[in-house]
Amino acid sequence: MTTKNRYAEYDSLASMYDDQGTERHDLVVEQLEKLVLQHLHKSAHILDVCCGTGQIAQRLIQKGYQVTGIDGSEEMLCYARKNAPNAEFILEDARFFKFSSTFHAVISTDVGLNLVTTIEELQKVFQNVYQALRENGIFVFDLYVEELCIEDWQRTKIQGEAKENNAWISEFDYDTEKKIGCDRTTRFELIDGQWQRSNMTFRWKLYSVTDVKSTLAKVGFTDIVFYDIKNDFGVESSGHIGCFVACKG
Ligand SMILES: C[S@@+](CC[C@H](N)C(=O)[O-])C[C@H]1O[C@@H](n2cnc3c(N)ncnc32)[C@H](O)[C@@H]1O
Repeated sequence: MTTKNRYAEYDSLASMYDDQGTERHDLVVEQLEKLVLQHLHKSAHILDVCCGTGQIAQRLIQKGYQVTGIDGSEEMLCYARKNAPNAEFILEDARFFKFSSTFHAVISTDVGLNLVTTIEELQKVFQNVYQALRENGIFVFDLYVEELCIEDWQRTKIQGEAKENNAWISEFDYDTEKKIGCDRTTRFELIDGQWQRSNMTFRWKLYSVTDVKSTLAKVGFTDIVFYDIKNDFGVESSGHIGCFVACKG
């Protein structure tokens, strides 16, 4: 991977991201079980795109699957290699990776693909996933979608949390014209007795279900289904998330 392609914005968030409870990851794997795992054989090879700190990968490894994770943040991958030592992790940008057709399933969880901020780039991600899948392989990913989130995103929000060794505060606002939510986070971390401050800005694109479905179809995916995680699975999460399932071939 070239430094040009490297997605490093998440580096400074890695320790905080790794410090989340286990509940979300367990719920995600429960949903994956219903949507994709039950259709795979027990030693299937799964690609986790935007794998973060490897918490999902580790749970899949425990179930007996082979897992490869890609992420654009080297720091996220450092945690992933510790959390899931038996998985393979590669520093790659979801928009540019090229793998041969070896995977039985590709997953992308916790709305990592909303960080891909144009439909053209999202299409490139879908093309790369399509190429990486075997025939009849399954692609599952979750996403904030316009239909479920627009009202909530239009309200400016300030959130934060203070723990013993770290604290953060974030402000979120939404650009209605560009359909981009902007999250500005300031974080304080106690390192060797000194509080260190870092500022981060993340941009989340809000896509419509129709645009995502048509982009998947353009790339060649079939049997495309959308689920509302709250209404279809009864799962409350930090935002109202949707989930897409699509097949190659
Ligand atoms: C919200 S986290 C999700 C992590 C993981 N999927 C999970 O469920 O815990 C989003 C991840 O996407 C990664 N990411 C964002 N844009 C990326 C890109 N273009 N290519 C590769 N990774 C990317 C970030 O580095 C971060 O680790």
